[in-house]
Amino acid sequence: MTAPASHAVRLTGWGRYAPAQVLTNADLERMVDTNDEWIVSRTGIRERRVAAAHETTASMAAVAGLRAIRTAGLEPDDIDLILLATLTPDYWMPSTAALVKEAIGNTRAPAFDVAAACSGFVYAYATASAYIAAGMAKHALVIGAELLTRFLDYTDRGTCILFGDGAGAVVLSASDEPTSEPQGAYMIWLPAGGSKSPSSAETIARGEHKIRMEGRETYRFATRTLASTALAAVEKAGWQQADIDLIVPHQANIRIIEAVAKGLGLPMERMFVNLDRYGNTSAASVPIALAEAVNEGRVAVGDKLVFVAFGAGFTSGAVALEWTADPARGPIGDAAVRAEDVTIRKPVDWDSVDPIPPALVEVLSRPLPVDLDLTDVIPGEPEPAHPSSR
Ligand code: ACO
Repeated sequence: MTAPASHAVRLTGWGRYAPAQVLTNADLERMVDTNDEWIVSRTGIRERRVAAAHETTASMAAVAGLRAIRTAGLEPDDIDLILLATLTPDYWMPSTAALVKEAIGNTRAPAFDVAAACSGFVYAYATASAYIAAGMAKHALVIGAELLTRFLDYTDRGTCILFGDGAGAVVLSASDEPTSEPQGAYMIWLPAGGSKSPSSAETIARGEHKIRMEGRETYRFATRTLASTALAAVEKAGWQQADIDLIVPHQANIRIIEAVAKGLGLPMERMFVNLDRYGNTSAASVPIALAEAVNEGRVAVGDKLVFVAFGAGFTSGAVALEWTADPARGPIGDAAVRAEDVTIRKPVDWDSVDPIPPALVEVLSRPLPVDLDLTDVIPGEPEPAHPSSR
């Protein structure tokens, strides 16, 4: 028997969306016993974005996804596979990918979510690559989107300082090297809400609806694993470490990124870093960083890129790809899609409770910062986060 022809995979579109409101380290100082100096020196994070009440994982994903489609010069219905990596879906069902498919006006793509925590985007990318290589899809939309701030415990200084909200997306794909360490399953987890322990008054009273994490163990896993995960993808691509032009790593902690650079013998200039402004946006972090790196002129045609990520479940994965798209198309995609024009259809006769955590009410009611990247801002005043509580 002859194997089916394998199709080459190219990345042709990229886009991102970040909510406009900013949560600074100074804000967190007022909530928990922490300080800017500790957070910056131990993590590199200075601020992160917080989704407003009208935003969801799907709405952010739809904007980033449409921007990636426009950057690629495509129509939404050209997409024949939609994969959405998230650990913060809008609902348990339908999938967030199904909501995005409808919102962007796609009628034909299979759409499903990928759950691998912060490694989710890289896993979804690898899956889409396999579909395309096998000839099962021509244009795949791969999105990483997270609304983590509604799942954080704003009395736990070990977690609430780390995470933020946002979405990033790409069109098309390349090669991968996913791995996972089963013993890490409970190092970062959210105990209640699944079939093992469905949400109830009791699980809420026990505080089991918020993210828990063993920070030191997670840190050790990341520093032990990430460089070798990246190296495996580099070797599979037939490259040397010195060939790598830019690594786009999961934006969890500057010290973890420094360890990856050291492990690969590369200077920090070859690592793209934006966690100082976004914190850890989990599955959204690599595609947001990628879109920003390309649009900032850090990537040229022919460059050798590596995406590498790790996350809950103690998963890790890497993608090595040679950049082929015209970097100048990024701003075209951003300009073509205004966030206010993208809506997620609401269920009939049902509205959610106010989704905003009490600890963030004050932050979300502030005027928006003035120096924001205008491509990310919804024009006009933001909707009040808590109209009923003021
Ligand atoms: N502010 C001030 N002090 C703090 C804070 C804080 N926010 N958090 C912890 N501390 C204190 C601790 O209580 C401890 O005090 P002690 O020595 O008196 O006991 C001290 O600071 C040092 O604490 P460590 O936990 O050892 O600090 P560490 O240097 O390990 O940094 C951190 C903690 C930032 C969480 C780090 O371990 C880390 O980044 N781990 C990886 C986490 C991560 O990336 N998670 C995401 C995974 S992706 C996903 O799938 C979701």
